[in-house]
Amino acid sequence: MTNYPIDMSVKPEVEAFFDPSTNTISYVVKDPNSSSCAVIDSVMDIDYAAGRISYDHADRMIAHILKHELMLEWIIETHVHADHLSAAPYIQGKLGGKIAIGDKILVVQDVFGKIFNEGTEFQRDGSQFDALLKDGDTYRIGGMTAVAIYTPGHTPACMVHVMGNAAFVGDTLFMPDGGSARADFPGGDAATLYDSIQKVLSLPDEMRLFMCHDYGPNGRDIQWETTVGAEKAHNIHVGAGKTKDEFVRFRTERDATLSMPRLIIPSLQVNMRAGEMPTDKDGRPMLKVPVNGL
Ligand SMILES: [Fe+2]
Repeated sequence: MTNYPIDMSVKPEVEAFFDPSTNTISYVVKDPNSSSCAVIDSVMDIDYAAGRISYDHADRMIAHILKHELMLEWIIETHVHADHLSAAPYIQGKLGGKIAIGDKILVVQDVFGKIFNEGTEFQRDGSQFDALLKDGDTYRIGGMTAVAIYTPGHTPACMVHVMGNAAFVGDTLFMPDGGSARADFPGGDAATLYDSIQKVLSLPDEMRLFMCHDYGPNGRDIQWETTVGAEKAHNIHVGAGKTKDEFVRFRTERDATLSMPRLIIPSLQVNMRAGEMPTDKDGRPMLKVPVNGL
């Protein structure tokens, strides 16, 4: 694999924020040697039936950052989420920081720009984000170096972010007993996902891995942290030497049985705009539903 600058001696402080309505885990990651921090995969609350948004989850993260007098430098999206809405612009408005995502967002914007029949006012150049990261790009959180690793498969724009001995895997992997995320969204691909997972599993065994989702399989409590070593040994979809063919066959069959995530329609429209609501011709926030479009 590409030689990414990994430094296991740097041990960031990680605070997790679980959102029970979407089973998403958001993180505040603090540089151990300064007050600088990053937010990863924030959540905006939505009552979709009522068309109402609110910010309880984001406010909990903001309160944590203020209480500990942290300086927010980055607001990271591991990918364009299909199951929850990002609160990145809301958090940025309160605390500053730069919103970043993988540069393959252009592919996602092109695909979903067509599906939602967006007009020319919807820019497909990623300009809604403050930074577009390429494979191996590094950025600083205080004295700590973070590196973005390209991990497509679940979506074309997925990236894993490594900060010291902690990696934030987005939807590349689930906990060992949860396996992996689906690969059947437009632009997704099971074989590509397998290759991306191998990239994550080639990180040091002791690397802490933080999930973006957990659904508490088999009735266990929600968990979000594991290690590369534990995933290699026990992941039910890719662990213990499962082959690419086995994985692709299993993943493809499983994905064919899954219904669309409850919030995919609003999530895509908001998240491909870096968390901003689309607006109608009069500038009012407004969402669309493409009938039989997904
Ligand atoms: Fe996802």
